[in-house]
Amino acid sequence: MKGIILAGGAGSRMYPISQLYSKQLTLIYDKPLIYYPLSILMLGGIKDILIISNQETIPFYKKLFGDGKHLGLNIEYVLQSAPNGIAESFILGDKFIGNDDVTLILGDNIFYGKLDFFQRALERKTGATVFGYRVTDPERYGIVEFDENGKAISIEEKPAKPKSDFAVPGLYVYDNKVVEISKNLKPSPRGELEITDVNVEYMKRGELNVEKISRGVAWLDTGTPESLLQASNFFGAIEDRQGLKVACLEEISLHMHFIDIEQFENVITNMPKCAYREYLAKILHDRKNR
Ligand code: DAU
Repeated sequence: MKGIILAGGAGSRMYPISQLYSKQLTLIYDKPLIYYPLSILMLGGIKDILIISNQETIPFYKKLFGDGKHLGLNIEYVLQSAPNGIAESFILGDKFIGNDDVTLILGDNIFYGKLDFFQRALERKTGATVFGYRVTDPERYGIVEFDENGKAISIEEKPAKPKSDFAVPGLYVYDNKVVEISKNLKPSPRGELEITDVNVEYMKRGELNVEKISRGVAWLDTGTPESLLQASNFFGAIEDRQGLKVACLEEISLHMHFIDIEQFENVITNMPKCAYREYLAKILHDRKNR
């Protein structure tokens, strides 16, 4: 399974910072937004990751993650010259995906809680899996409608009259057919290759699984400055209460056995003195003394 993070876009809602780079670099409490979606791929056991973004932002991602080796990952980068739509990810990522299955996560999507819904999707061998999450503002998202047996019967992108309150979050698990399906898409009236059109195609073929995500899981919006502040407060409260960090990539790498304790120690040694380093140093100390 390969992983793609789509982390570019025009970001005009985030003006003035959007003049410099995409919003996925903005801080959510104590780390850049992109750490959160990357952590989800890692927790799914995905080590080969492609970051797709624009010319301004790619250099910053490269500075943050390099080739990913220190995290036990293989991270590659591809340029998206203009925000031509989410489904363009699979065309731009064609070579990287090769003959594999692929999970796409949007660089501004944050999930927090038990990830069993994602694990189940990763275990499916064919077709596509997307998710449904109840929201109060369904006209802003891709919306999935279910019949009385819980079977998904329609998906629409930002419908004026939503048929349900279940939004499709920006986390999609596909078999290799997604590349061919994306290449055959036509741009929508707003000029984008729509991810919803990919999902509709899988539905037509009878190969779309839609799984509802339970209310115990948080799917957070980061579309506006207000929602970014809410997300920061949310993770600030959790981290402060538990003394544990969310989306701490080095900790996850160790936990997932992507790196061993020696590599972990090396990573810490290269960090400046700061609270983040102290947190990792405590993990190292606890590991060595358990
Ligand atoms: O967040 C989930 C929603 O994401 C889904 O429910 C919708 O079906 C899906 O279309 C998408 O809706 P958005 O309105 O949130 O998409 P947006 O255009 O804001 O793009 C999402 C992120 O992906 C954003 O951070 C920018 C980035 N992006 C987007 C496009 C279209 C790119 O990097 N390149 C692109 O071409």
